[in-house]
Amino acid sequence: MTDFNGNLDNAATDEMIEQRLAVGLRNLWWPICPSSFVGERAISLRRLGYRMVLWRRRDGTVRILEDLCPHRGAPLSRGIVMDDRIACGYHGVQVDENGVAVSVPGSPGCKLEGSRCVRVFPAIERNDTIFAYVSDDQEQNTDPAPFTMPEQLESDNYSAFLCYAEWNGDYRFVYDNVMDPMHGTFLHKQSHSMSFGDTTAKFRIRDTDHGFVFEKEGQRNVNFDWTEWGETGIHWLRLEIPYPKTGGPGGNFHIVGMYTPIGPNKAAIFHWRVRDVQGWQRDTWRFLYKNRLEERHWHVLEQDRGLLEDLDEGANANEFLYQHDMGLVRLRRRLRNLATEQLEAEAARRMGRQSAA
Ligand code: FES
Ligand SMILES: [Fe+2]
Repeated sequence: MTDFNGNLDNAATDEMIEQRLAVGLRNLWWPICPSSFVGERAISLRRLGYRMVLWRRRDGTVRILEDLCPHRGAPLSRGIVMDDRIACGYHGVQVDENGVAVSVPGSPGCKLEGSRCVRVFPAIERNDTIFAYVSDDQEQNTDPAPFTMPEQLESDNYSAFLCYAEWNGDYRFVYDNVMDPMHGTFLHKQSHSMSFGDTTAKFRIRDTDHGFVFEKEGQRNVNFDWTEWGETGIHWLRLEIPYPKTGGPGGNFHIVGMYTPIGPNKAAIFHWRVRDVQGWQRDTWRFLYKNRLEERHWHVLEQDRGLLEDLDEGANANEFLYQHDMGLVRLRRRLRNLATEQLEAEAARRMGRQSAA
């Protein structure tokens, strides 16, 4: 079917694509917050265009629902957690972990009772982090396939620290920043491990099974020399920074990053800092990290935050990109394509339903 301009009417417009990317892609797992945020009392977090309520059941597992009572919209997070359900603090409607209003004390037997009326975000906890699956608006997937993490967060050979922060900026500025290894040589010039390397390096893109690597030609293990983009049911970036001997055992330092939109100009920043260390070396590195390295790493990250938070909204509207920006161009295009695909699939489903009705 076409509209009067001859466009396919399930074609995604630039505006729709931008809106989708601004809140984050759907049908995907996303990190929501560090594990330590969630206890037996409900908390409310804004993420990915939703307000979410999170709590722990008595068995320790985490549940996430939309933080919106089906009766008159009060935040469920103000209510009382009752293990597998939460009772709204306004008029006592009880919503269970499947999003079903199981009890309506003010009007027993009314239509609301027994209806599945609250959005559920399937949750997984691992690597010190709570992850949620966000379905598209039309069809809620309550049993999505789990995601896999990069090897550094899957294998027992590695030891990781989660570093969490919230920055005032679009999460896509952070993607751009990490997809741009060259900024290490300039922005982090003073840093202990990034002051070496060619400032005019040539880059290339290499495809992988799950995404691609953006890397300096002919330079490895000198500086921040490559970044990898991966899609494994969740989106991640990975990089490696060589470490001097004073950095302790474990060779290169790995960083896995994920960035989740909180709101239009705010992002949740997840970095797992990882080393390939076992046995006593692991203890040494964990001790060294806590006592010496962590502070230095935060200092480097502050340089990124300072710059990114100072970018005005739309500052990238008139960029003049050059060879070093090839990686972020590729990533932006990939995200646009993913947004387009999912918007058009949703539109096609909607039209299918309309014509079936
Ligand atoms: S608004 Fe929640 S029970 Fe009325
Ligand atoms: Fe940086």
